[in-house]
Amino acid sequence: MAGGGVVMAGDIKHYPGRTTFFVIMVCIVAASGGLMFGYDVGISGGVTSMDEFLAKFFPAVLEKKRAAAATESAYCKYDDQKLQAFTSSLYIAALVSTFFSSYTTMHYGRKATMLIAGIAFCLGVIFTAAAAEIIMLIIGRVLLGWGVGFANQAVPLYLSEMAPSKWRGALNILFQLAVTIGILFANLVNYGTEKMARNGWRVSLAIAGLPAIFITLGGILLPDTPNSLVQRGKHERARQVLRKIRGIENVEEEFDDILIASNEAAAVKHPFRNILKRRNRPQLVISMILQFFQQFTGINAIMFYAPVLFQTLGFASSASLYSAVIVGAVNVLATCVAITLVDRIGRRWLLLEACIQMFVAQTAIAIILALGLDGNYMPTYLGWIAVALICVYVSSFAWSWGPLGWLIPSEIFPLETRSAGQAITVSTNMVFTFLIAQVFLSMLCTFKWGIFLFFAAWVVVMFLFTYFFIPETKGIPIEEMDLVWTRHWFWKNYVPHPDTLAHPNGIPMEAMKTSKLEDGAANGHKL
Ligand code: BGC
Repeated sequence: MAGGGVVMAGDIKHYPGRTTFFVIMVCIVAASGGLMFGYDVGISGGVTSMDEFLAKFFPAVLEKKRAAAATESAYCKYDDQKLQAFTSSLYIAALVSTFFSSYTTMHYGRKATMLIAGIAFCLGVIFTAAAAEIIMLIIGRVLLGWGVGFANQAVPLYLSEMAPSKWRGALNILFQLAVTIGILFANLVNYGTEKMARNGWRVSLAIAGLPAIFITLGGILLPDTPNSLVQRGKHERARQVLRKIRGIENVEEEFDDILIASNEAAAVKHPFRNILKRRNRPQLVISMILQFFQQFTGINAIMFYAPVLFQTLGFASSASLYSAVIVGAVNVLATCVAITLVDRIGRRWLLLEACIQMFVAQTAIAIILALGLDGNYMPTYLGWIAVALICVYVSSFAWSWGPLGWLIPSEIFPLETRSAGQAITVSTNMVFTFLIAQVFLSMLCTFKWGIFLFFAAWVVVMFLFTYFFIPETKGIPIEEMDLVWTRHWFWKNYVPHPDTLAHPNGIPMEAMKTSKLEDGAANGHKL
């Protein structure tokens, strides 16, 4: 469960304490969880564009690639089900493991779940880096996928429960920043290992062992969160941990609030059944649709397959990997923009602006490919314009749909369904990530330049959905979130107005909440 009222993002209550060594360790663990995920996203495209790797595991693809110059369209060089399975097997495994990891986070704690993630990551790295047969490669990717499923469930919860409340929002996006750094790191490693005479791909896959070891050590050495300890009846240990992470002796106020929240959460017997109730419909629909849209921006077509895509544009192997590094760096920098803007100009503005920018960039890329790519040849200057347009596209994703696809679900679910909401969010994301990984190269082969128009069309749908159905949540405390729905032109049909609900202390809830919401509205929120 995602802790209690005192640990919500955007909460207005602050407890005494200072930033301690343990809190810094928490950030490092979070970074290694995100790095690991990002590294896995970024590494496969580079590895699959290396000839030595293809010769060993996918000789048919290598043959096709070599023959392509004379016989086939550039768009189909890499169209191969097994090659796509290498990339996508990780995400299907992550999807399945999310359901186990939501159980282990609840019953055995966040720490134990991170340890499981770390062990799965380490085994996955051994299998992939040492692979002698394609089956070892796939088993390794499945193990890495288990790691991703367990880490993506446990690490964000671990972070939000350990961090001082004033850091909580920023930490959420820092996790995404770590993901983008992981992708960039993978691109850089590929750029270096591609130059090795032999076994470059093994080195690329083995370096993932570094963050894997880190998260494993975190799972062994770090304490569990106070919330998780309370939830499992270990009250004294929870107090000790609170004292350690806050750096003060008297932690009773925070401890009492955790206890109350834990009891409330325990009273909800069936979070997954609960989440299907009509009053939770807006949160459920928005969280799931955000994941669908996030993936149908086409971002992972670029993140997974950038080097392959650049080779399709006629770049040589090292220029392709070099371009992937540029795109990766833009992704990291633009995520920093999100961190500074998200609480100032709000979520809606970023999402809407990005749709326009993505639409323009994708349409322009389609036009350049349609007019410029002749068989296997494209003038170099047009190739570089395409790379620049991909950077325009990736930057808009990175300051909007990337981080907000994760941030918004984490702030709109009420306490009793938050943990189930997180599991559904992660698994929905994995379903669509899997789909894109599995079909992109075939779609590229069939649709050719039209693939970019396909994604651009989805961006139009996303713009309209955001405009009409996603309310602004900037600066609104989580416990006030219901009012966002009750005042929304459409969602008010699903969420009962607070006037009709009795409050335990007899004060009408509407009267209690209006003042805080008005504070928010005065800061420029649109509902
Ligand atoms: C998405 C990933 C994507 C990454 C790119 C994340 O928000 O969930 O699928 O690869 O952003 O930076």
